[in-house]
Amino acid sequence: MAHLDDLIATDIHAYLRAQENKSYLRFITCGSVDDGKSTLIGRLLYDSKLIYEDQLASIEKDSKKSGTQGDKIDLALLVDGLAAEREQGITIDVAYRFFSTDKRKFIVADTPGHVQYTRNMATGASTADVAILLIDARYGVQEQTRRHSYIASLLGIKHVVVAVNKMDIVDFDQAVFNDIEVEFRKFAQDLTFTDIRCIPMSALDGDNVIRKSERSDWYQGPSLLEYLETVDVDSASLDAPFRLPVQWVNRPNLDFRGFSGTVASGTIAVGDEVIVIPSGKRSHVKEIVTYDGNKDLAREDMAITLTLTDEIDISRGDVICKTDAPSEQADQFQAHLIWMADQALFPGRQYILKTGNKSVPATISNLKYRVDINDFSEVAANTLELNEIGVATLSLSAPIAFDPYKDNRQTGAFILIDRQTNATVGAGMLDFALRRARNVVWQDLDVSKAARATQKLQKPALLWFTGLSGSGKSTIANLVEKRLLDLGRHTYTLDGDNVRHGLNRDLGFTKADRIENIRRIGEVAKLMVDAGLITMASFISPYIAERRMARELLDDQEFIEIFVDTPLEVAEKRDVKGLYARARAGEIKNFTGIDSEYQPPQSPEIVVNTVEMTAEDAAEMIVSYLTKNGYLSPQDD
Ligand code: ADX
Repeated sequence: MAHLDDLIATDIHAYLRAQENKSYLRFITCGSVDDGKSTLIGRLLYDSKLIYEDQLASIEKDSKKSGTQGDKIDLALLVDGLAAEREQGITIDVAYRFFSTDKRKFIVADTPGHVQYTRNMATGASTADVAILLIDARYGVQEQTRRHSYIASLLGIKHVVVAVNKMDIVDFDQAVFNDIEVEFRKFAQDLTFTDIRCIPMSALDGDNVIRKSERSDWYQGPSLLEYLETVDVDSASLDAPFRLPVQWVNRPNLDFRGFSGTVASGTIAVGDEVIVIPSGKRSHVKEIVTYDGNKDLAREDMAITLTLTDEIDISRGDVICKTDAPSEQADQFQAHLIWMADQALFPGRQYILKTGNKSVPATISNLKYRVDINDFSEVAANTLELNEIGVATLSLSAPIAFDPYKDNRQTGAFILIDRQTNATVGAGMLDFALRRARNVVWQDLDVSKAARATQKLQKPALLWFTGLSGSGKSTIANLVEKRLLDLGRHTYTLDGDNVRHGLNRDLGFTKADRIENIRRIGEVAKLMVDAGLITMASFISPYIAERRMARELLDDQEFIEIFVDTPLEVAEKRDVKGLYARARAGEIKNFTGIDSEYQPPQSPEIVVNTVEMTAEDAAEMIVSYLTKNGYLSPQDD
């Protein structure tokens, strides 16, 4: 491959200028390692000669030692180095590799890891111009091909290369290639690609990767690299509205206050009027500071720091826009979701939604449907499993700045994070804001929680009893309520068995149902606390996530978590309701402690050890906790 390398020796500045002026093409490869993904990327890097000499020498050595290709260089080793890093516990969702030819610079989002492939793909694809879908010529279009194509289309990729790989194994049979092309084009009709290019290939031998191969003389199109060098992707539109998600507020001294981040889209110039979303505050750009000096103009992808002519409050996660085209803001959305976790999605559970530099708690309020990727039909669903795709409505605990994904792939994309494990469990694309919530304004009432509580001479609270079935939660809660009543206090008890006769009659004991059970109870208990009552809630409530959600619905110190700590053997021996025996006999499914998990609290306010303590003593202890902490103000009489 001819290169500009000579210039490096003769005129380094000319070389750097030439590099700088070349356009960037971002692409991803989709397919499993078995389809030849690593070999293909390796081939591109190797043949474009951007592998460092020492790296090359070591691959040649390793290939002979451990490669799978005999005397040939095993190019997959180049890429699979990442797998080793993974094994050492370094998490890499997606690694960006850079290489260039005389015509263009390339960024390939390389997505290691074979298991959670969809997850990696979604992370890498959101900025890609082109997707290369690898198909093994022997097997044709597979379910995985359909899934990756659908995701690529969903993510807004318009240009697709179908790399029909391993053509050497099928003797470069044109009929095999044609059949695959016909099948793919038929299936992709419903997708949003504007350009599909099918190329017969052998990544291993290099056929049609860099140069046209003589072994497929019936193929008239370009080689993969020729295609990548010439495809017209009209990427970064400079007309796109300006968006700067603020990554940090840069304040090295009192004289300087800048807002730093990477421009997600559009351009900004000194003097432009800007508006900050969600606060709506306005100002003008004073300076655009960058790593190499101040600029008059900045555009997409540039890391900049803006200073403004006015002192206005801006925080991390806000988005700076130009006043002529500000982003929207909302706290309710419809979105497409790609689920990426082994553990299924649960509507009602709270996740952290992260977009740009902003993170807010969010709940999937309604899963509308799952997409069957075989025929793109919409299937009713209660949950999404690993790699499944669906459409849902989301409710956020605070408004965010956003654009619909179709308008802006940066500010319209988000990920969902599990609150317990901090793992990314889903990726999403915002479709549109739901205006409904905005029309329902919070009605301010003249009588406040404080007024209701003062009248009752108490500080309202929610005593949340959690523990196994038969641990003694209801017995203790009942005694606490009686003691409080004797003390002239105002109370109410919400009990698992009772609530399931009415409000939650429609719920069983699957994980999804238990999550919904506790979500509703959390909301009801919040109303009771608002009424000024000391409220008892007695539910197994097996999951940390939902107990935390209930806690966060209330103000500080209103939520008192009481762990009724009775070991399974003890609860089972007591078996007051005879349910453990039936669960052991297989008559009751999903029974907590038997075939359904219980997650004990990590730092409850109160622990009751029912083996060492009677229910009466436990109730006494809880009431004195309330007294000591000022929940029961002294009464006159
Ligand atoms: S929770 O898990 O959703 O919080 P909740 O406290 O409302 O459970 O209801 C638990 C009560 O339902 C138990 O005390 C028991 O009497 C009854 N029950 C019936 N089936 C089950 C089951 N599979 N697992 C646990 N409890 C069950």
